Amino acid sequence: MHPVHLRSAGTSLLLAFDSGEAEIVHWGADLGEHLPDLATLRGPVPHSALDIPVTAGLLPQASSGWAGRPGLRGHRNADGGPGQDFSPALRVVSAQVQDGGRSVLIIHRDSEAGLDVSSELTLHPGGLLELAHTLTNSGAAAYQLEELATVLPVPRDATELLDLTGRWCRENHPQRHAVQQGTWVRTGRHGRTGHDSSLLVAAGTAGFSNRRGQVWATHFGWSGNHEQYLDSLTDGRRMLGAAELLGSGEVVLHPGGSYRTPSLFAAYSGHGLDGITETFYDWFRARPQHVDTTSGRVRPVVLNTWEAVYFDHSLEPLLELAESAAGLGVERFVLDDGWFRGRRDDHAGLGDWFVDEGLWPEGLTPLIDAVTGHGMEFGLWVEPEMVNLDSDVAREHPEWIVGPSALSYKDGGRLPHTWRHQHVLDLANPEAWEYIYGRLDALLRENNIAYLKWDQNRDLTEHGRGGRPSVHEQTLAAYRLFDALKAAHPDVEIESCSSGGARVDLGILQRTDRVWASDCNDALERQTIQRWTQAILPPELVGAHIGPTTSHTTARTHDISFRAITALFGHFGMEWDIRAATDQERATLRRVIALYKRHRALIHSGKRVNADTAEPTLSVHGVVAHDAGEALFAAVSLASAPAEVPGLASLPGLDPTRSYRVRAELPTPLDGDYAHTFTQIQPPAWLEDGAVASGAFLQHVGLPLPVLNPEHALLLHVQAL
Ligand code: DGJ
Repeated sequence: MHPVHLRSAGTSLLLAFDSGEAEIVHWGADLGEHLPDLATLRGPVPHSALDIPVTAGLLPQASSGWAGRPGLRGHRNADGGPGQDFSPALRVVSAQVQDGGRSVLIIHRDSEAGLDVSSELTLHPGGLLELAHTLTNSGAAAYQLEELATVLPVPRDATELLDLTGRWCRENHPQRHAVQQGTWVRTGRHGRTGHDSSLLVAAGTAGFSNRRGQVWATHFGWSGNHEQYLDSLTDGRRMLGAAELLGSGEVVLHPGGSYRTPSLFAAYSGHGLDGITETFYDWFRARPQHVDTTSGRVRPVVLNTWEAVYFDHSLEPLLELAESAAGLGVERFVLDDGWFRGRRDDHAGLGDWFVDEGLWPEGLTPLIDAVTGHGMEFGLWVEPEMVNLDSDVAREHPEWIVGPSALSYKDGGRLPHTWRHQHVLDLANPEAWEYIYGRLDALLRENNIAYLKWDQNRDLTEHGRGGRPSVHEQTLAAYRLFDALKAAHPDVEIESCSSGGARVDLGILQRTDRVWASDCNDALERQTIQRWTQAILPPELVGAHIGPTTSHTTARTHDISFRAITALFGHFGMEWDIRAATDQERATLRRVIALYKRHRALIHSGKRVNADTAEPTLSVHGVVAHDAGEALFAAVSLASAPAEVPGLASLPGLDPTRSYRVRAELPTPLDGDYAHTFTQIQPPAWLEDGAVASGAFLQHVGLPLPVLNPEHALLLHVQAL
C-alpha cells in the first residue's frame, strides 16, 4: 500500500502502511511534494527489547510491540470465559483517499478476534485535522468495549505541555509543565464536559508562546466523560490522545454492533498558539451552519435578565427592563430562569415546561409582544435535561429519574445526591425524551421565540439506567434532542450554557450557536476566561456580557469602560438591571453599543491575535481583518505592574508594508470613568489625536501605552491608510 500524504494550509499528514498498520510518519509542517522511500527510514531495534521495530499505529497495539496506552481495550466473555480477544492485532486491509484528497478512510481488521475498525482522517482546508474511529464487532459473541482512543504522535522536541483547567466562575485557566516520561492524564467524570475540562491540550517546543514556537494541539469533541492524555514512552515516542471514558459494562457490542468515537480535532502551528487559533477559527467559520457574521443575521446585542431580576419574575418590571434595553439599542431580550410552573426558586419546577399560570395569566405573550414591539428578538431559558423532585413530571414519572440502581427511587432504588436541588432525566428513555421534545417543540410553536438559552446545571453522577452506567447513551440522547429541535425550528438559535462554561466543546457546538463561557461577569476574570476559551472558539460563539458595576460573583467593582472593552471581544450583551444605571452610564452604554454594531463584522470575522508581552500584568490582544485593512486592539492592565510606565505595546498581525492610523476608541473624555482609567501627569503624545505607523513598526516597536490603572483597559482602532 502506498503512503498517503494529505496537505493543507502549511500542514502535512503523512501515513505509511508497510508495517501492516497505519502509521503516522509525520503530522506537522508541510513537507512539500517530494518524499523519500519511507521503507528505508525504519528505525533501529535496541537491546533488551522486542526483536522487531515497534510500530506506533493509528491504534497503538501490543501486537505490534506498543507498550504504552493501547488504542483499543475490550474483551469477550466467550467459550473460554471472560477476557477473550483481549489483545487485538488489527491490520490495515484498505486505505482510500477521498473527498478530493482531503481525507483518508482506513479499514483495519482482525478476523481472528472478530473486530473491524474504520478510521476517518480529514485534513480540512484551513489545516484542521479530524480523526474518528468506528469499531464493529464482527465476531459471534458480545464484545465489551473498555476504551477506543484517538491518538496522534508528536515529536520529541515538543517538550512543554499547556492545557486548561477551571471551576465554576473560573473556567479555562492555563497550566503548563515540562513533558517527562510517563503518562499525563486529565480525567473528566462529570457526565458533561466539565468546568475543569481542557478545551485544548497543546504540546510545543521549548518556550512556545502566543506567537512563537511549534505547537501541536488537540481538542476532544465530546460532552460526556472523557480522558485526554500525553503518553511519553521510554523509546522517546509521544502520543497526544483522547478517549471517551466508559463505565463498567457501559458499551457492550452485540454481534454486528458498532461504536464510534467522538472526533479528535487537532492543529499544528509553526508560529505559536495564535496559529492554532487561526486553524480552529477557519474550520468553525467554514461550517454551513456557522452564524453569518458579515451580512444577514449578525450577532445581536443581548440583554439577559438573570443578574437583573433572578427569579423575581413579574410583568411590570420586565416590561420596564425591555423598554430600557430597547432605548439603549439592545436587539435580543432573553428571559432567564423562573418563568415556568412552580419555579419560584431553584428547589422546584424543573421538568414542568409550561408557562406558570399564576405568574403569567396571559402566558408569555404580553412580554413577547412588548419585546418584539420594541424591535427586539425574544429568547427563553430552559434546562431540558433536568428535573426537581418537586415537579409534576417527577411525581408522575419517578422512573424517568436517573440513578445507579435498576429500581426507580419510588420502589426503593437509590438516587444520586442532589446538586442545586435537582436530578437528571433519563433521556435515553424514549418516553421521557418524547415528553421533553414535545414540551420544547410546543413552546417554540406557541410563542415567538428566536433563541433558547439551554442550561445544564449539574454533573451527571452515578448516572445509570437499568442498573448500568449510561452517560454515553444520555449524551447521545441529548444530542438527538438538540438535533431534532434544530431540524424542526432551524431559525431558533441555541446557546449551550452549563452553570456557565461546563459544556463547551465541539460536540455540542455542532448543534448550538454560541456558548455561555462563564457565570462570572467580572471583567477581570473574564479577560482570562475569554482569552483561553477563544484559543479555539471564535468570539462570535462566546457570549460576553457587561455585568453589574459590582460583580455578583466576585464582589469586585469595575468601571464601565473596562467591562465594556472586555465584553466587546465576544458576542456582546448585558446582564445587569440597567434601569438602575446612571445617566452617565447610560450615555456610555449607548456609545458602546453603537461601537459594537460598527465593529461587529470585524470582531466576528477577523483573526485573533495575542501579543507576547514581557510584562504578565499587561495583556494586548486584538482582532485583525483578513485583508489586514483594519483592526481593534485592547490593551488591558490586569494588575499593578512593577514598572513605572507600561512601555511599548506591540500590535501584531498587521500588514508590515502598509501604514495605519491608530486611535483610542474607549474610554473617551466623554465617559465618566475616563479620569479613573489613567494615572499619569501627561499621556503619551499620540493618545489625543492618534498615531500613524507601518504594520512592521507597530509589531516590532509598538506604541508607548498610557499608564493604565490596574483593572482598566484601552480600546484601540487601527485603520489602514
Ligand atoms: C446557570 C446559568 O449559567 C446562569 O446564567 C443562569 O441561567 C442560571 N443557571 C439560571 O438558573
